[in-house]
Amino acid sequence: DSVRNRHLQWVSKVRVNTQAVLKRAQQIQGHNKNKKQWQAAWLLRAVTCIDLTTLAGDDTPGNVHRLCMKATQPVRNDLLKSMDMQDKGVTTAAVCVYPSRVADAVKSLKAANSSLPVASVATGFPAGQTSLKTRLEEVRMAVEDGAMEIDIVINRTLALTGQWEAMYDEVCQFREACGEAHMKSILAIGELGTYTNVYKASLVAMMAGSDFIKTSTGKESVNATYPVAIVMVRAIRDYFLKTGHKVGFKPAGGIRTAKESLVWLTLMKEELGDEWLSPHLFRLGASSLLADIERQIYHYVTGRYAAYHQMPMA
Ligand SMILES: *[C@@H]1O[C@H](CO)[C@@H](O)[C@H](O)[C@H]1NC(C)=O
Ligand SMILES: *[C@@H]1O[C@H](CO)[C@@H](O)[C@H](O)[C@H]1NC(C)=O
Ligand SMILES: *[C@@H]1O[C@H](CO)[C@@H](O)[C@H](O)[C@H]1NC(C)=O
Repeated sequence: DSVRNRHLQWVSKVRVNTQAVLKRAQQIQGHNKNKKQWQAAWLLRAVTCIDLTTLAGDDTPGNVHRLCMKATQPVRNDLLKSMDMQDKGVTTAAVCVYPSRVADAVKSLKAANSSLPVASVATGFPAGQTSLKTRLEEVRMAVEDGAMEIDIVINRTLALTGQWEAMYDEVCQFREACGEAHMKSILAIGELGTYTNVYKASLVAMMAGSDFIKTSTGKESVNATYPVAIVMVRAIRDYFLKTGHKVGFKPAGGIRTAKESLVWLTLMKEELGDEWLSPHLFRLGASSLLADIERQIYHYVTGRYAAYHQMPMA
């Protein structure tokens, strides 16, 4: 149809200026000089944007349950109290698990009366090397088990070789399989070659109905980097300016320190504005990040550093 053709024409014309992107990424990392009292508030903000994740081969109902409990109470109550935040319902944005663990997570959260959404990776995560039929079936099953968000992986070969129509059509099928669930499209930027490809893949993923675009699975040899993020958020901005449609951004893979989480928030604020600083348009995919953030908040509140064992498992 004509919308599809107009979209694909737009994709074919794109070029990214690598030098400008690298320069901007350098600048952003230097802009993260918040005052101490702001830092604590920003760290709490980062917590509310985390998709608290476990994607291990040996995940069990037990460790998924602990993850869910941590997600509903991510920061110690005494610390929240010191910041006058104990009644604000601070939780992470979601928990993120493999499809086979969705039912466990849903059950744990339900037992805790939590409305926190369960997100699931799907479509043959992380490599996406199963048949299309199997990948679609996996999405439907995760949704059936109660996942409200699905993180799909794209076929990297399609992006790497510029088969944008085919990528568009495939992602549209995932979108349909997701039904009411939100869809986050993982581009696996470490495997896309050029920034221009990253920009084009971002556009195509958005055109095909993604609610979020996400950098990485965390299993590639290159994880979320700031230059790639600049390219992706500018695609989000351009798409918004052209269509009025707001798409979210999720960096993931290798994000471990509180300091990095502040750089990510700064990047979102400066490139996309305040609206992209909340969980409906920004997520941090992470597993160990929360422990470091909690430690920094402890330091802010008490003036001392906590040993990791003083913080419940993250
Ligand atoms: C959940 O809500 C029910 C009904 O309101 C209540 O009986 C139960 O104690 C709550 N459970 C938890 C873990 O808060
Ligand atoms: C991904 O796309 C390539 C190129 O069209 C194709 O050869 C390959 O079979 C696709 N992979 C899957 C798992 O469908
Ligand atoms: C990418 O992230 C994963 C998951 O956090 C980590 O295991 C891996 O070492 C990271 N790789 C690089 C190159 O930073």
